[in-house]
This record gives sequence, structure tokens and C-alpha cells, in this order.
Amino acid sequence: MCGIVGYIGSNDTKEILLKGLEKLEYRGYDSAGIAVKNDDGVSVFKEKGRIADLRSVVDFSVNANIGIGHTRWATHGEPSQVNAHPHQSTTSRFTLVHNGVIENYAQLKREHLADVNLVSETDTEIIVQLIEKFVKEGLETEAAFAKALKELKGSYAIALLDNQNEDTIFVAKNKSPLLVGLGDDFNVIASDAMAMLQVTDEYVELMDKEMVIVTKDSITIKTLAGETVARDSFKAEIDASDIEKGTYPHYMLKEIDEQPAVMRKIVQAYQNEEGELSIAKDTLDAVNAADRIYIIACGTSYHAGLVGKEYLEKTAKIPTEVHVASEFVYNTPLLSEKPLFIFISQSGETADSRAVLVHIKELGHPALTLTNVAGSTLSREANHTLLLHAGPEIAVASTKAYTAQIAVLAILAEAAGKAKGFEMKFDLVQEMGIVANAIQTLTDDKEAFEQIARDFLSTTRNAFFIGRSMDYHVVQEAALKLKEISYIQAEGFAGGELKHGTIALIEDGTPVVALATQENVNLSIRGNVKEVAARGANTCTISMKGLEEEGDSYVIPHVHELLAPLVSVVPTQLIAYYAALHRDCDVDKPRNLAKSVTVE
Ligand code: M6R
Repeated sequence: MCGIVGYIGSNDTKEILLKGLEKLEYRGYDSAGIAVKNDDGVSVFKEKGRIADLRSVVDFSVNANIGIGHTRWATHGEPSQVNAHPHQSTTSRFTLVHNGVIENYAQLKREHLADVNLVSETDTEIIVQLIEKFVKEGLETEAAFAKALKELKGSYAIALLDNQNEDTIFVAKNKSPLLVGLGDDFNVIASDAMAMLQVTDEYVELMDKEMVIVTKDSITIKTLAGETVARDSFKAEIDASDIEKGTYPHYMLKEIDEQPAVMRKIVQAYQNEEGELSIAKDTLDAVNAADRIYIIACGTSYHAGLVGKEYLEKTAKIPTEVHVASEFVYNTPLLSEKPLFIFISQSGETADSRAVLVHIKELGHPALTLTNVAGSTLSREANHTLLLHAGPEIAVASTKAYTAQIAVLAILAEAAGKAKGFEMKFDLVQEMGIVANAIQTLTDDKEAFEQIARDFLSTTRNAFFIGRSMDYHVVQEAALKLKEISYIQAEGFAGGELKHGTIALIEDGTPVVALATQENVNLSIRGNVKEVAARGANTCTISMKGLEEEGDSYVIPHVHELLAPLVSVVPTQLIAYYAALHRDCDVDKPRNLAKSVTVE
């Protein structure tokens, strides 16, 4: 959450910073700001709202070759101009942007800054005031920066300008992502390489509790103890066109449409020379050495984990539990003797999941991360990584990452099962081809889902999704998708649970969407649809070819029922998309949310 950029070089920095922030807007978009520095000093421009709002307050006549910028997802203090970053010290000598949460900010204020008049409600302002205090006490800026960093408890990615230091950006990181980008005659900083691909694709990764002295010609990485650290750079393998919307009105629609291609790409990525799906031996050994797997994830990734559990248990016969990351550390279950932890995270940066990873590493347990972002924190810190190969997912609402996660889990389970000598129920390569074609059929038929959204959801305040067995996992994801982008209160229930309470909520016209893709529960879910219809619900059944009945709202193509979630989720993604559009919601940037949730 929150995005940071910085530039130091020979060109004017304002446009570079603003373009960078536009690319980071997915990380938070309630306020934004830039600070640029030239011989006249530092000029700060900040505004509540989106980068477009920030642009309207920037004085484009100010030329400067050094600058930092920030797009915010509020944690401490409401979204407002005053709480927007950059923040300045009392004398305005120091200007700072920060991503993360300073847990001991109240204590730091009490102990060090009791006589300082803070202007914002943020934890960030404490950092910049602390640096100024230490400088006033006689330290050089670099030493004051290091001393302040040592006082901080929590997470941070920080960029600092010193008005009296002509040509340096001071940078630091702990638990929040930050990269330094290298160029000819300039250097940049960014929370995500995507932001600065416009100027460079060469980056240096920072580790926790490191600081960097960035000038236009050099970068010097140091530990907080002052030791210099050498580190090679890497090329960011992101195609600039992957992060553009192209002719699509929204990233979400583009990403829904990419799913057939993603399914094919995943199969290719995991095929060996013989055309068989395979997983690196050490990863497979770790999976098969486990007596129980604990899947840890949040949100959509958690929902993918629910499907993954079925695969790991049914195909590889490994007992598997799925846990919401934010609860795990407090409610740690009794662990088995040889656990393996699988972290599922599109971004690889989710703080709640990372907290569990840190915890289980302390306990000495092995971890495997499934992520879309090579080199992300959860990937680096786990023992093994499986990549999702979904390409950058920009829309806050996750779509192609969900199907990619399920596909990779299916491949992992099959490889683990085969390695144990179990007979496979089907040819996964062939079935994945059928899945890709089925998804394509659905994405080619968007009008049907626009109509369903119009008929069932255009005026309602709430909606229910019901399903049984594999469909129950998918309806939970369907409900999350609808609520996060259309703000319709939506819940996904197990069909059988309705009569244990929830059916009391059904009244005339309540929309209930049922999924019916699983043969062994088809009659039961049909019974549930009748029960709610008898109580006035406006029902919409999405079934699978072979199980369809008269009156179904949509019939998806037939795929193997274990893989049905990969296909049945697509109508629900499109229905959520159109419901949000019909309600004039900002599909790609829903209120109160951010793509990468880097605070616990
Ligand atoms: O990057 P991650 O997969 O770890 O993110 C987890 C959730 O924050 C994420 O899936 C969230 O629920 C999505 N916005 C849902 O569309």
C-alpha cells in the first residue's frame, strides 16, 4: 500500500514522477504528492484524491532535477491534503515520503518530539521530525537518518530530501518494498519496477534494514550499522505493453480477457521437454516430505487456496488446511510434525501473509510461495517459489491471478501425486486446453453477462451466491468480486447452510446466483434454488453443459468438474464488472482499497 517514486538526474523530474505515480496508483489512491528540489529549495505539491487531482495543483513552471513522490492509502489520519505525503520537518529542511506503518510513533513523539508542533495526523511526520531533531543535535544528515531508522518499529520504505544537500536522495527500507533503478546519468527509486520502466529496466533490490545514498551517478547501499553492501542489479522482465490498458476501458476487463492465454502460458511454463507437466525436484520433494500442508493467503488468493486444498488432497493425498493469513499468527493451529507452508499471493508483498512467513520461519518450517511477482518479498523469503505467469495484474479486483493460482495448484498437485505413484484421473495438459477454450467462449459472450448483471443486480443493495462442493469455493470468490467493485453487499454460502439461518434474509426480489457445475450435488443445489425462489428470491442459475436444466440463466461449456472453478468463476467476474459499471463505480480503483496490501 502506498507507492513511492524518486528521480535524481539531469532531466526535469515532475513528469517522470507523475507518470511513475500513475503507474503506482493501484497501490493507493486517496491522496498524492511530489516534492521537487532545485537551487531555490524544495517545492511540495500535494492534494487529496487521484494523481489527476495532484496534476492540477503542480506548478509546471518549477524546473528541478531531483524529486520524490507518493500515492497514499491512508492508515494514520484521514485522506486529506495535510495528511498527504511528502511531509516536511518544522524548518522545511527535510522532506520525506513513506510507505508502511510506524508502530511506535506515539512513543517516539512522547520521548523525542514533545515540544514539536506536528501538522499532520500521520505516523510519517514523526520520522522527518526525528531526523531534523538529530541533525539539530549535531549529526550529519546520513547519520541522523540512520539513527532515526534505528528508532523505528514497524514497516517502512522511505525517501528523504535534504534542502542543504544538493544532490542526494536518502532511501531506506524495512518490510515494505522498494527498488533503486539505474540509468545513464540518473538514478530512480520506486516501490515497483513498473513505475519507472519508462526510464529504466535495470534495478537493484534492497533488503530490510538497509539504507541507500542515491546520487545521479551512484548508489551506495549500507546497513544501519554503516557497512557498505555490494549488490548486483537485475533486469525487470516486464513488457511495457503488459502494463498498458490498450483499447480496453478498464484493466479488469483486459485481465479477464487474458485468462485463456494465461492458462496456455502456465501449461507451457510448467511443461518439460517431453511435454509433461513438471515441478522442480526440490520443490516437489518438499511437498511430498510434508505430512500436512498449510495454505496461507488473503482475499482472492485465500479463495484459490480453498480449491487448491481439494487438488492436494484428492490428487496428491496430502492433508491440507487453508488459513486466512491475518488470523493465523493469533490462532495458530496445532501443527503436524512435518508441515509445509504454501503462501499464495499475487503480489508477493501482502503484509499479513508475510507476518506468517516470518513466524513459521522462526519455528523452522519450510515454505513454498506461489506468486505472480518474481523476486517479491514472499518469494525471496520462502524456500521455494512457483510463479503464476499471469503477467502484471493492475486492477485492484483480482481475476487472472485467481485462475492462474488454481491452475498452478492443479499442476503442483498432479506432479506431487505422480511422484508418489498415484494414478491420475485425467490428462491435465489436455484438460487445461479445454479449460482455456471454455474461458474464451465465455469472454466472447460478454453481452450475456452484461444482461444478467442488468437483470439481477442493477438496483439491489444485496445479493447472495450459493454453491456446493467446488462451487462453494467459487461463490465465495464471486461474492468478494461483486462487493469490492460494485459495493453491493454480497455473500457466498454453501447451499446446504441456507436453511440454518441465512434463508431468513431472503425476501421478494433478493438476487440469488447459484452455481451448478458438480454432478454429485446438482440435485441438492437445484433444491436450494427452489427453496429461495419459493420465498421470493430472484434466482439466476449458472450451470455446466451436461447438468443444465430448463430456465438456467447461463450454461458454461463442459470441463472436468475438478477444473470447473477455472471456468465457472469467469461469468461471476464479468457479472461483477458489469454490475459495477451499471452503478457508475470506479471498476479498477474501488473505494477504500489498494492492490497491494503491504500493511497488516
Ligand atoms: O497480492 P495478494 O494475492 O496477496 O493479495 C491478497 C488480497 O489482498 C487480494 O486477493 C484481494 O482480496 C483482491 N483485491 C481481491 O480482488
